[in-house]
Amino acid sequence: MSGFVEKPEPVEVPGLVHVHTGKVRDLYRDENGDLVMVATDRMSAYDWVLPTEIPDKGRILTQLSLWWFDRLTDLVPHHVLSAEPPAGAPADWAGRTLVCRALDMVPVECVARGYLTGSGLAEYEQTRTVCGLALPEGLVDGSELPSPIFTPATKAAVGEHDENVSYEEVARQVSAETAAQLRQTTLAVYGRARDIARDRGIILADTKFEFGFAGEELVLADEVLTPDSSRFWPADEWQPGRPQASFDKQFVRDWLSSPASGWDRNGELPPPELPQDIVERTRAKYVEAYERLTGMSWG
Ligand SMILES: Nc1ncnc2c1ncn2[C@@H]1O[C@H](COP(=O)(O)OP(=O)(O)O)[C@@H](O)[C@H]1O
Ligand SMILES: [Mg+2]
Repeated sequence: MSGFVEKPEPVEVPGLVHVHTGKVRDLYRDENGDLVMVATDRMSAYDWVLPTEIPDKGRILTQLSLWWFDRLTDLVPHHVLSAEPPAGAPADWAGRTLVCRALDMVPVECVARGYLTGSGLAEYEQTRTVCGLALPEGLVDGSELPSPIFTPATKAAVGEHDENVSYEEVARQVSAETAAQLRQTTLAVYGRARDIARDRGIILADTKFEFGFAGEELVLADEVLTPDSSRFWPADEWQPGRPQASFDKQFVRDWLSSPASGWDRNGELPPPELPQDIVERTRAKYVEAYERLTGMSWG
């Protein structure tokens, strides 16, 4: 089982048409045809959108994404037009709303990995490859790769896993030229972000980008380099050969899988509400990620 414990209702705002309720974000279209992306405080874990929100999470991730977009503009243009919520939006949308150019989205999750874990590790253990790319023997969970790799995936619906695909498959789907552009841009942006994060004591293990076209121009879309789209590991705790502590979700995962939650993640029932101290410690982790990466203090 997976999905929403409780599917949220879209907000009614004059001039906006609701187009999508994602796991974490709600999407609207405004009268100019631009996309309005609202990052909520929803949190997902173990394929579920949890019934408990983490206060400010959507704001923190929106501000982090904006901060990164600014640091990447020489590598690739981004889709953000404005961080000002539309007139008539609820006060709560401030800080969590981005008005974006509506792009013709490329249907590929563009993942870059500098370290081996997750679905990459699972494939490696079977075949010594990730997305068909041969890797050296002897790598373990959390190993740094000889060099970062582009490991695209197809986009899955809510509650389903993205599926890793080979570069050749992407080229078949989107053309050889676009595939090359996706790979080159994904690795360039990953390299930039990895270096910035490393200077701040954070390992950017892997990250997922989405791109779209505005005419002929490839544009970086969605959210970028947030804990929801990336694996950030505290560098001083990194130890290959075991699962690494996740920067943001560790308290939630640990609690959900502990007897205290009374929840069986392989069972039929949805996850329970999180206790207050888990909410607070998780919020503090998001704040810490923001502060360490940007060097700015949160509010
Ligand atoms: N500039 C853009 N133009 C059009 N679609 C976009 C743009 N940026 C992001 N998207 C799409 O908006 C959606 C955001 O939904 P998201 O909150 O990530 O939910 P999901 O859980 O469905 O991925 C994704 O389908 C993404 O591809
Ligand atoms: Mg998404």
